[in-house]
Amino acid sequence: MNEILSERSKGVLTLTLNRPAKMNAINTAMYAELVSQLRSAAQDSEIRAILILAEGPHFTAGNDIYDFLENPPTNMEADGFQFILELHNFPKPLIVVVQGSVVGIGTTMLLHCDVVLATPSSVFSLPFVTLGLVPEAGSSYLFPQLVGYQRAAEILLTGKSFTVVEAQEMGLVGTIAEDAREQGLAIAEMIASQPPTAVTNTKALLKSGAHHAVTEVIKAEGALFQMALHSDEARDALMKFAMRRGKK
Ligand code: COA
Repeated sequence: MNEILSERSKGVLTLTLNRPAKMNAINTAMYAELVSQLRSAAQDSEIRAILILAEGPHFTAGNDIYDFLENPPTNMEADGFQFILELHNFPKPLIVVVQGSVVGIGTTMLLHCDVVLATPSSVFSLPFVTLGLVPEAGSSYLFPQLVGYQRAAEILLTGKSFTVVEAQEMGLVGTIAEDAREQGLAIAEMIASQPPTAVTNTKALLKSGAHHAVTEVIKAEGALFQMALHSDEARDALMKFAMRRGKK
């Protein structure tokens, strides 16, 4: 089964996480395919906007935990880190629609998207500390910048989840709607029909203030994240999940 679906229509490339039996947990192969799709889309003048979706009731349960245990990243060339950098540097608009559980990278990737829609079922969490890890994707910089230091610190340090209404109030989600998918596609098509150079220049201007700082934070987080994955704290927490499932 193809775990990343891609479809192009009316200037919009739709990328869909398609691993619903595993709550769309993102594994190395899925990151690699996402990176490859985004790199081609950046160069393809016929693609004017990207829509990111997920099959099934949940957007994603975050990074595949078995990959963290068996195939941890050892440098910034790892597919997961490359995906983060690709999102951060991506020149064209990224529109995303989330539903159900939106865990870890599922939530941090929203900080890099230009338009975020969510169904009322959406619940967000950043359980990095609970797993013995540290935040990634520039979220240790972008999240407090968006929601304020104390609110970000409380969420990141406790690992507690937050509701879609809270996410909208924080500015992490723009629109909450039952028909978020349809609305997301309509917005993507509307953006794709705009003059393309004006669109990419406007996105570059919107992102320019913090771009360099975020690149540095992503690298610093990446170094700590790799170290943390080898720590006893993380191994214990990840094994606990795996053993709960009887896989180890
Ligand atoms: N990595 C790999 N597999 C995952 C996964 C992940 N992050 N999250 C869920 N799955 C798999 C489960 O192993 C299970 O597959 P199985 O039936 O073959 O064992 C399937 O997806 C359904 O998940 P399950 O845990 O049974 O659903 P639940 O409703 O009981 O719990 C969660 C939902 C999200 C609370 C729970 O799956 C969870 O805690 N996942 C890990 C989230 C996480 O910490 N992600 C990393 C963030 S950095």
